[in-house]
Parts: sequence; structure tokens; C-alpha cells
Amino acid sequence: YGGASGKVDYVFKVVLIGDSAVGKSQLLARFARDEFSLDSKATIGVEFQTRTLTIEEKSVKAQIWDTAGQESRYRAVTSAYYRGAVGAMLVYDITKRETFDHIPRWLEELRAHADKNIVIILIGNKSDLEDQRAIPTEDAKEFAEKEGLFFLETSALNATNVENSFNTLMMEIF
Ligand code: GTP
Ligand code: MG
Repeated sequence: YGGASGKVDYVFKVVLIGDSAVGKSQLLARFARDEFSLDSKATIGVEFQTRTLTIEEKSVKAQIWDTAGQESRYRAVTSAYYRGAVGAMLVYDITKRETFDHIPRWLEELRAHADKNIVIILIGNKSDLEDQRAIPTEDAKEFAEKEGLFFLETSALNATNVENSFNTLMMEIF
């Protein structure tokens, strides 16, 4: 990580967005620290964590920003949150229909506030809860194709596709 010199060649800001309780903070905890908690508290304000990756022999620092999904009063910082972001993870919960139905709204907010070249990946999280699935994979895949987004289903709980999703985003930004 970062090579022996600790030199960083690039810093990429990535934002996590999506409804409350879809698992944004736990995806970040899994990616940044390989941790997961079942009694994770709702995020208040804005937090970020970093992890440095090596891409084509360059040291790339992912600076991942996380905020509250729900309360708009905690989201007064919208434009600051999106400023300088080169990647976004748009997260829904595969077991909660409304979190998928709200994706167009999040996309609208993203397109209103973020750089027009921002790379976006749609994430269907909680793939470990297959028996409670409310959103067929095909529906999300179709939506993502229509909107020009990358798409993966993940589980922060068992780590499925978490590395893959951040890597996909970082490689595409690179
Ligand atoms: P806000 O901060 O309110 O916007 O929510 P959030 O999107 O950050 O959700 P958070 O990461 O706090 O997770 C909400 C709940 O879902 C917690 O109880 C997590 O443990 C749980 N959770 C997160 N990811 C997964 C997952 O992949 N599978 C399962 N089964 N539960 C998950
Ligand atoms: Mg959170």
C-alpha cells in the first residue's frame, strides 16, 4: 500500500449515497478496515475514510465520503459533499423495494451537484439476504444499462463483491 516511499500519485474522492440503512457505512467499513457491524448506527453529518490501492504501479488513494441517507436536515452540505468527487456509489438494499424506487431521485441529485464526468456504480447491497430479495437482479441491471451506470450486488456482511465494486470504480476513474 502506497509503496515503500509512502508516495501517493493520485487522490480520488468517491461519495456514497442512497437511502438510510441500505448499508453505505458498512460497505465503507468493510472496504477501509475489513470490519462489519450488525448494530451500526445511522450516520450523522459527514465522515470519510481512505484506503490506498495500487493501480498500474501507481499509488492511488481512495478518499470515500459517507453521509446520512435520510434526514435532509443533516444533508445541508450537499454541494460540499459532491464537490471534487470523481466517483459515486449509489446504494440500495435488495430487500427493500422503496430504496430501489428512490434511486432515480439520488441520480437526479448527483447529476445536479456533481461533475458531469463522475463515474457512477449502482450497488444492490445485502445480497446475503437472498430469501428476502425484493428487487430482481435483472431489473437493476436493466436500469443501470439504461442510465449508463456500472452495477454490482454486494454484501458488506460476508464481503461479497465489496472489493470488486470499489476496484471497478477506481479502475474506471483512473
Ligand atoms: P445511514 O447512515 O442512516 O444513511 O445508513 P447506512 O446506509 O449507512 O446503513 P448502515 O451501514 O448503517 O447499515 C444499516 C443496517 O444494515 C445495519 O444494521 C447493518 O449492520 C446492516 N447491513 C449493512 N450491510 C449489510 C449487508 O450486506 N447484509 C446484511 N444482512 N445487513 C447489512
Ligand atoms: Mg451510514
